[in-house]
Amino acid sequence: MRCAKGAPWHPDRDSAADAREETENVVTYRWLVDIFHWRVFEPFTMSVTQAEFRRALASFATGITVITLDSDDEVHGMTANAFTSVSLDPMLVLVCVDQKATTHAHLHAKKRFGVNVLAENHRAISEYYARPGRTHDRAEEVGATFERTEHGTPVLCGALAYLECRLHSAQDAGDHTIFIAEVEDVVVRDGDPLLYFGSKYRKIGSPLN
Ligand SMILES: Cc1cc2nc3c(=O)[nH]c(=O)nc-3n(C[C@H](O)[C@H](O)[C@H](O)COP(=O)(O)O)c2cc1C
Repeated sequence: MRCAKGAPWHPDRDSAADAREETENVVTYRWLVDIFHWRVFEPFTMSVTQAEFRRALASFATGITVITLDSDDEVHGMTANAFTSVSLDPMLVLVCVDQKATTHAHLHAKKRFGVNVLAENHRAISEYYARPGRTHDRAEEVGATFERTEHGTPVLCGALAYLECRLHSAQDAGDHTIFIAEVEDVVVRDGDPLLYFGSKYRKIGSPLN
């Protein structure tokens, strides 16, 4: 006979009572385990909705770039903020591009592109190159003019920085592809960046002391 916690042993107790008590203890124990899982683990295993995912990422402030490349002697540009540095030696950067974007096919075909970091006064340019189905004809109306590098890659005049990139590797990841590229040349200018935070365009504030 086992002594259940909180139930003093008595010579008159029968084994059926012991069995009943043991069952009750097991039920109580399982109930406590369930509560523990619900309170401790459940918050981490709840599925995240796309809206929540977007909101979380919108709280990460970024700069904005326009990815440029040559397409049949025309400038093709695409607004992108999924851009970051990857490695210093060799100098690598990455940009994540939606597999449905026309830029996606262009990047695979060209294997070379420019990253233009937008300045504070480039909001209209960012909006223009984010518009689906745009043509290059109206780029000048939003103040976008381009020069070409020796490789023929378009460089946005007045960009805060320009990086000339040669495709290193591409890795599909969900509905996007991560394009990793080696940086072959850079141009940097003074000025303030255009920022994106909370799904809104912003400008930079004063430095914290
Ligand atoms: C601020 C901002 C940032 C964006 N960042 C990206 C990005 O990093 N990757 C991407 O694939 N699309 C991004 N987009 C959406 C593309 O710019 C948009 O879908 C564009 O129309 C694609 O053009 P395309 O189909 O000619 O390639 C962004 C849009 C905005 C407004």
